[in-house]
Amino acid sequence: MIDPSTIERILDAANISDVVSEFVTLKKRGVNQLGLCPFHNEKTPSFTVSPAKGIFKCFGCGKGGNSVNFIMELEQLSYPDALRWLARKFHIEIEEKEESQEEKALKDERESMMIVSAFAQRYFSRFMQKENEGRTIGLSYLRERGIRDDIITKFELGYCPDGKDLFTQAAQREGYKMDFLEKTGLTIKREDWVRDRFGGRVIFPIHNVAGRVIAFGGRTLTNDKKVAKYLNSPESEIYHKGRTLYGIYQAKRDITKLDKCYLVEGYTDVLSFHQAGIENVVASSGTSLTIDQIRLIRRFTPNITIVYDGDDAGIKASLRGIDMVLEEGINVKVLPLPRGEDPDSFARSMSAGELTEYIKSKETDFIKFKTQLLMETVEDDPVSKARLINEIVHSISVIPDAITRTIYIKECSRLMDVQEAVLYSEIRKIQNKQTEDHTRKELQEIQIQASKPIVPATEKKIVNPFETEEREIMRILLKYFHNEAFEFEDEETHQVNKFTVGYYVLHELHSDGLISINKRVRDILMIMEENLENKEFDPIKFFTQHPDSEISQYASNLLAEKYVESKRWSKGGAFIESESDLLSLLVPKLVQEYKLRNVKMMLKKLEHEINESSKSNDAEKLMESINQYQNLKKVMKELSDLLGFRTIS
Ligand code: CTP
Ligand code: MN
Repeated sequence: MIDPSTIERILDAANISDVVSEFVTLKKRGVNQLGLCPFHNEKTPSFTVSPAKGIFKCFGCGKGGNSVNFIMELEQLSYPDALRWLARKFHIEIEEKEESQEEKALKDERESMMIVSAFAQRYFSRFMQKENEGRTIGLSYLRERGIRDDIITKFELGYCPDGKDLFTQAAQREGYKMDFLEKTGLTIKREDWVRDRFGGRVIFPIHNVAGRVIAFGGRTLTNDKKVAKYLNSPESEIYHKGRTLYGIYQAKRDITKLDKCYLVEGYTDVLSFHQAGIENVVASSGTSLTIDQIRLIRRFTPNITIVYDGDDAGIKASLRGIDMVLEEGINVKVLPLPRGEDPDSFARSMSAGELTEYIKSKETDFIKFKTQLLMETVEDDPVSKARLINEIVHSISVIPDAITRTIYIKECSRLMDVQEAVLYSEIRKIQNKQTEDHTRKELQEIQIQASKPIVPATEKKIVNPFETEEREIMRILLKYFHNEAFEFEDEETHQVNKFTVGYYVLHELHSDGLISINKRVRDILMIMEENLENKEFDPIKFFTQHPDSEISQYASNLLAEKYVESKRWSKGGAFIESESDLLSLLVPKLVQEYKLRNVKMMLKKLEHEINESSKSNDAEKLMESINQYQNLKKVMKELSDLLGFRTIS
């Protein structure tokens, strides 16, 4: 836990322009700054930064928020991790609050493992660049393979000296504990000996999504077939092979931006693609693709193109991957490579332009890929053809989206010359079977649930019927909280008192007992109420920088809603004045609209109650409801008159 005062210091320091500029080129546009959105692919900039408000907003994809939200989204970090990221950037030391003993122990352990991994990476890189052995053996190997220096730097490649435990000794001299060297697998320790795992190997550090080193792959430089080509770090508290993708950190920005991810097999495939200027690429690192890896990609894009080796094993791996990827609702394409090539050798055999061109022309969707592949062997044998159709239909049936399924069925029908109706009926059969399995599972689930205590429904599921009105009121409150837009003349003394927008709105909402069903709104209003008299209180700053990221995001989004203002005032007619000049007219109108919506809702509810109580002959209840109903009708008429509407009764 980061303590609140540190959070405050981070938020104060994390200037939105500085943070965003690290990733986006911004141009000044009036009081704001404008650039190309890093969250979606666009050619004309709609990504706006408001330094004054400390927020960003993309009018193309709708993403918006403060500095923390920006980093959370871009680097795919949790709220505390985004804060830590910002703290590092702005050189703020983090004081973490006390945690439970176990929490602390586990986190300390993970942290220590990451710290020792970071040290190892720096050590291996330095050794390869600076030491004689590193340069003549490690670096020259990479250069011979044609790997450029900028790629070596970007992927933090290195070399581990060839000796029994040179690295381990160096680490211990620097004060790193044997315990963590062992737990990360960097050092192998037995009763009577100790040695480096990666001695004499070229090192490929493996980064997590946030860019921290969590493991290593080490390639041997010998051609000895008895020596494993790659050694990898063992599974550990910080490294789960099946949940990691090599290159995800270096690729994530382009994956998001281009809305597509290439999936290759190995370390060197990733490097070569980058070298050819294709940066939205990750590797499953030799293991068969796992669900967790697919889900990791899906955090950034629903479009995957599988680029596996052009040999039987590679093709088989592609086929195996396809159904899993389809099942996750991802659109999958395949890029077949010529026999004998892997993505690395293939990418290096041509210019970057040629590679891009090849990809564009050869990328096929999975149906074509599967069909073409299997058709060769089928020829005119009806039995094998039926089997093939069945196989493809099975792949289609796992796709969760109905529209996508339809498209594939059309294509399959065309390619294999089978009527669509036949394919549909096959799919129904498969799905029926799946439903059966599913139902069985669900029944089990219900039984499990039944034995647990009932939990109340969460607030999130409720739809807020006053969303629009509420948002506008909240926006006005944020912007004009202390603005003294209202006057009130004391009847006796004839003294004119001024009062603020904040006071007016809160008072009005209170007097009618209106409360929001949105917890964030309730929280914000409560804090505002406490600060009605506090002139130092700056609601914009306070809420857009609020440590609860839901609140800060809500506030930031509100402030970015320019269009609401313009719509309202262009509706107004002949002349348009600035919002702040019209506050004394605008605010009461807004509040009344909000109340009107509320009243209408209550009327509906009462109508329902009246119906119910008349059915059940509950006279007393009925009377009460009718009474309330009539009162509300009056209120509604008053409100409507105020707003200049005609009531239709
Ligand atoms: N791999 C591994 N252990 C091995 C062999 C392979 O972990 N003994 C993983 C590595 O992540 C490797 C990937 O599987 O990158 C693909 O293997 P392969 O195609 O054999 O290696 P390349 O990446 O092509 O490596 P190189 O070009 O150096 O031969
Ligand atoms: Mn290779």
